[in-house]
Amino acid sequence: MNILITGGAGFIGSHVVRRFVKNHPQHNIYNLDALTYAGNLENLRDVEKSSNYHFLKGDIVDANYINEIFNTYQFDGVIHLAAESHVDRSITDPLAFVKTNVFGTVNLLNAAKAIWVDDFSEKRFYHVSTDEVYGSLGADGLFLETTAYDPNSPYSASKASSDHFVRAYGETYGMPYVITNCSNNYGPNHFPEKLIPLFINNIIENQPLPVYGDGKYTRDWLFVEDHARAIDLVFHKGRNHETYNIGGFNEWQNIDLVKLLCQQMDVKLGRSEGTSEKLITYVKDRPGHDLRYAIDAGKINKELGWEPSVTFEQGLEKTIDWYLNNEEWLNNVTSGSYQEYYQKMYN
Ligand code: NAD
Ligand code: TYD
Repeated sequence: MNILITGGAGFIGSHVVRRFVKNHPQHNIYNLDALTYAGNLENLRDVEKSSNYHFLKGDIVDANYINEIFNTYQFDGVIHLAAESHVDRSITDPLAFVKTNVFGTVNLLNAAKAIWVDDFSEKRFYHVSTDEVYGSLGADGLFLETTAYDPNSPYSASKASSDHFVRAYGETYGMPYVITNCSNNYGPNHFPEKLIPLFINNIIENQPLPVYGDGKYTRDWLFVEDHARAIDLVFHKGRNHETYNIGGFNEWQNIDLVKLLCQQMDVKLGRSEGTSEKLITYVKDRPGHDLRYAIDAGKINKELGWEPSVTFEQGLEKTIDWYLNNEEWLNNVTSGSYQEYYQKMYN
């Protein structure tokens, strides 16, 4: 197959590209990425010379360009990850999220429909989405594939909209699709604007750890390589026109997670116990902050046998080790425009 992976230079996308290039030499992998602040070709240095890997620099918002590459490369499958992905940025610039996440997704659907319309067999449009489309849980319950959409942030509203478009193309035009909605990921190559990589960087730099509100917000964390493995399974074996929830069975209140991270970092950095916890600083809450996300990943487990392969403690340790061993990566992404973002967001 000729497979287009969008957003392959980003955090999750780079793990998906690496997995497909290495594990599926029978497929040609085309990584399309606009290389926004979140895209980084350093993430793929180890596979960039592989004969089944090709990089295309381009913007999914540009319909002409998207149509052109579908005509040229005749993709049989699409795994769509390109997105604006950070909730805080969506609060300051919602339109950027509408453009890439909604408009960009529809451009891809149109381009795929145009070349597949005479024969949809053996074709697949895989849309990678988030559990945030379901809104917020209270103290109990889990998100199921049947949970009604109820997004609260401009980010989750844009992802919900793109999910609806993918389903609508399935119903209206017969587009063969699968959608997965995954919980919070963590791991190597994560841009330091999200909680875990931001706090790892701040602990290294001895900077305050800005915990929003009372720190009691809860997320369900999954190691990124486990997500990439789930995507591989669903792409090859998932049922057409189905949605699968993916999660870590691993809920943490932010403050407990931050304390565990501080403990592990103290050990790794040879600092005395309790040093990093002193950096915890409670700051103004995020507007519209969802209280709790938690996934019931029973469907993908039963149908495809998927389950997470590492515990949170193991995954977090691997993640910390990666950041400590890749100081240059961290320095490169935190220079320049990152400083401006940080000042605006936190000072
Ligand atoms: P990311 O922000 O790290 O990477 C996004 C990538 O998309 C970057 O490489 C960026 O350059 C590229 N991109 C952005 N706009 C583009 C455009 N207009 N055209 C082409 N490329 C563009 O994101 P991520 O965390 O890796 O998330 C990937 C996908 O997974 C997203 O669709 C996100 O909604 C979804 N998701 C993320 C998480 C998570 O915890 N990070 C959880 C569930 C689902
Ligand atoms: P984040 O990594 O932005 O993921 P999401 O909002 O998509 O779940 O945030 C995870 C949790 O951590 C969320 O409850 C917000 C909180 N948070 C902080 O307390 N401080 C921060 O600086 C950041 C970025 C997030």
